[in-house]
Amino acid sequence: MDEPLISAPLVFRDDGTPYSPRHDDIYHSAAGALAQARHVFLNGNGLPERWRSRTRFTVLETGFGMGVNFLATWAAWRDDAHRARTLEFVSIEKHPFSAQDLRTAHAAILDDDAIVPLADALASAWPPLEPGMHRLAFDAGALTLTLVLGDATDRLSHLAEEGIAADAIYLDGFAPARNPDMWTPGIFASLARIARDDATFATYTSAGNVKRALRESGFEYRKVRGFGGKRAMLIGKRHDCKR
Ligand SMILES: C[S@@+](CC[C@H](N)C(=O)[O-])C[C@H]1O[C@@H](n2cnc3c(N)ncnc32)[C@H](O)[C@@H]1O
Repeated sequence: MDEPLISAPLVFRDDGTPYSPRHDDIYHSAAGALAQARHVFLNGNGLPERWRSRTRFTVLETGFGMGVNFLATWAAWRDDAHRARTLEFVSIEKHPFSAQDLRTAHAAILDDDAIVPLADALASAWPPLEPGMHRLAFDAGALTLTLVLGDATDRLSHLAEEGIAADAIYLDGFAPARNPDMWTPGIFASLARIARDDATFATYTSAGNVKRALRESGFEYRKVRGFGGKRAMLIGKRHDCKR
């Protein structure tokens, strides 16, 4: 039997950045949610270029939060004349917001008019907050969002059996020191099973334990310039052969 979900309260810091009291951390850089999504997660995974040679492309994310990375990815895919025909976005979230809080958060943080209708469509399709997989379809079914509500450790270990094979991975738990259960060797071992042979990943952190877990689970990484005053972030890919 699944544990009931505990939703996240919507709290803002004085500077307007959404904040999690549970993890004592912010949801995105104070320098901009969409700009961070584009720099760290899209550019970090070589998108949009990497989906151009594909008919179908799958993004896997740890930590859906307010869906900013999802919305930035959807907008980039929509705007790209050479996009993959179908985009599948799979994201895991243990403490989802209510639909109303999602709308309030989006109104406060999204600074791009083109994203507003997408955010509205997401909030309108928001599922009941029950544990398990919720499949939402947008753009006449060309884009699917599989929202996996529950703990990342449990859920990730089942995703490979569900036939999910990731082309790009967004690692977006809260900071490793504040949210260690999103960055364990077990999480990376599951990610390695779900990643396709040529899968890439990106994350805003360059913490030592993340680098170690990546190395030990078969990923190679590179440090590149981070976003919003962060000196470094990590991008990389799977080694050629699965273990
Ligand atoms: C930095 S926020 C994600 C921001 C998000 N990617 C966005 O674009 O808005 C980190 C998220 O990880 C979630 N989280 C923390 N621990 C988790 C766990 N063990 N399993 C699943 N999700 C978790 C938090 O509830 C939070 O929503």
